[in-house]
Amino acid sequence: MELNEAMIPLEVHNMKTTDSSWVLITGASGGFGEEFARQYAGQGYSLVLVARRLDRLQRLAEALRRQHPVDVVVEQVDLSSVEEVVQLHQRLLERGIAIDILINNAGHGLHGPFLDAPLDASLAMIQLDVASLTAVTHVFAQEMRTRGRGQILLVASMLAYLGVQKYAVYAAAKAYVLRLGEALHRELKPDGITVTTLCPGMSYTGFAAAAHQTLTPALKQLMMQPAPVVRAGIRALQAGRISVVPGWANKATVVFIRTTPRWLHQTVISRIMNGPD
Ligand SMILES: NC(=O)c1ccc[n+]([C@@H]2O[C@H](COP(=O)([O-])OP(=O)(O)OC[C@H]3O[C@@H](n4cnc5c(N)ncnc54)[C@H](OP(=O)(O)O)[C@@H]3O)[C@@H](O)[C@H]2O)c1
Repeated sequence: MELNEAMIPLEVHNMKTTDSSWVLITGASGGFGEEFARQYAGQGYSLVLVARRLDRLQRLAEALRRQHPVDVVVEQVDLSSVEEVVQLHQRLLERGIAIDILINNAGHGLHGPFLDAPLDASLAMIQLDVASLTAVTHVFAQEMRTRGRGQILLVASMLAYLGVQKYAVYAAAKAYVLRLGEALHRELKPDGITVTTLCPGMSYTGFAAAAHQTLTPALKQLMMQPAPVVRAGIRALQAGRISVVPGWANKATVVFIRTTPRWLHQTVISRIMNGPD
């Protein structure tokens, strides 16, 4: 399709047209996503910031443009809709923006007894954390394969390593993300695409509030700030690793999960996450 002047969004005219690579970050309006934006902008990458809360994305974009010589494009998208994902990709193509690095980060949790949550809430979470993440990965990896290069980071969770009481659907959704990432790491390597999965433990973002989780004292001891989590994710992706668990306490927890019987680690981790029964 030919683009004429009138069709080009205003933001294109304001772009600095740096020749740096483009990073697309989903869920960039807060938490890890916002931190990914800050760290990649600090490394000189241009950014496409995606989420639903436009005001937050715009404030972040303005701050990053002031602080760094990078282009920042804001895209208000409800990623629960696969149609909106496809339209996002189409809009970026029309603007001549090819994504070199995809940070597939948007997601949310849902804490509480499985049977007490409305079925719709669980299915909506699966739609975002599983279906949409798969769609975003599929759409942008196609384009990367055509160019013979690209990097994709999938944000899973430490809960991908075990089923956890009161986080049943979320833990299962994140297990899907980890398995998808591990498989694609091998499968897409010959196409020049690196796929890395980041498995954070509980961290200080908007996650707990959005998931309606009350933080137990034990959990607070283990929580991380977003900056080191994101730094570990970017480093692992740049190093071409299959997956990464950030922080020594989280790494130790994964060793504990892998080396102990299921009844033991499920009991201990359920206590940490949920408090005593
Ligand atoms: N923080 C933790 O403890 C923790 C631990 C392990 C894994 N994770 C994972 O880390 C990822 C990022 O979460 P976070 O901790 O940074 O939480 P957060 O602060 O709540 O951020 C979630 C981000 O996802 C976006 N989002 C949610 N629904 C969306 C939708 N339908 N369409 C587009 N964007 C949407 C939100 O933006 P809008 O609301 O503006 O749309 C927000 O930018 C998630 O995948 C989460 O599962 C978090």
